[in-house]
Amino acid sequence: MSSRPQLIVGNWKMNQTQEGIKIFFDELEGLSENFLKGRAWIAPQAVHIPLAQFLSAERFKIGAQNCAQTTSGAFTGEISPEALVDLGVEFTLVGHSERRSIFKESDELLREKVACALEQGLKVIFCVGENLQERENNETFSVLERQLESALKGLTAPKKNQLVIAYEPVWAIGTGKTASPEQAQEAHAHIRKVLIEKIQLPGQTMSILYGGSVKPSNIEGLLKGEDIDGGLVGGASLNPADFKALCQIALS
Ligand code: PGA
Repeated sequence: MSSRPQLIVGNWKMNQTQEGIKIFFDELEGLSENFLKGRAWIAPQAVHIPLAQFLSAERFKIGAQNCAQTTSGAFTGEISPEALVDLGVEFTLVGHSERRSIFKESDELLREKVACALEQGLKVIFCVGENLQERENNETFSVLERQLESALKGLTAPKKNQLVIAYEPVWAIGTGKTASPEQAQEAHAHIRKVLIEKIQLPGQTMSILYGGSVKPSNIEGLLKGEDIDGGLVGGASLNPADFKALCQIALS
């Protein structure tokens, strides 16, 4: 079990309706602000952020799934980190594997996105992870190193707790296949080592979340790893009963 505070982050991806969001927060009524203590975060679609902020009534931190590499200008369809801050948003994901693979976001672009979001004062959950072929070729560590170094090395030092890393093996996202607790712990320990030794970040105190088919039945095993500081949850975060159970297990 990690000695750092645990965090549960729901990534709703391109899902939910206004009605569904109302039902979701109604069903999570039982989780008090006192229990959650700012440790449960949710990233809805950008258009749903204000509604989620209103309905979650500050019990959950509401954030974005993506943001642009700059604050304003001719970037049709993008989400400005400045506009997010203006809305009272505190965090954004950057570099989710779906952004890397479907939207072809490169390591260089992700570096600009991380830098701009941090500069605007957002917390950033920077996602890294290898695909199946890279794992089978024994390239997991080198892929993680490349993704971390290219985005983070030499950046103006983030403020304390401003940067969170999410390890999400691509082969485990939305597939029902979770990394074993041993595989996850091994990758997390490596990420922490890279943060400290190669990027000169305060890796010892930074949160590293595991993502990839996390659900109530497997989170307990994953959280046994001393370098696993919580979960980034896709599918199971859309189900209020599952999300509630995940918070109860991880945050108690
Ligand atoms: P999953 O998604 O929990 O549905 O595997 C995780 C993620 O993509 O963040």
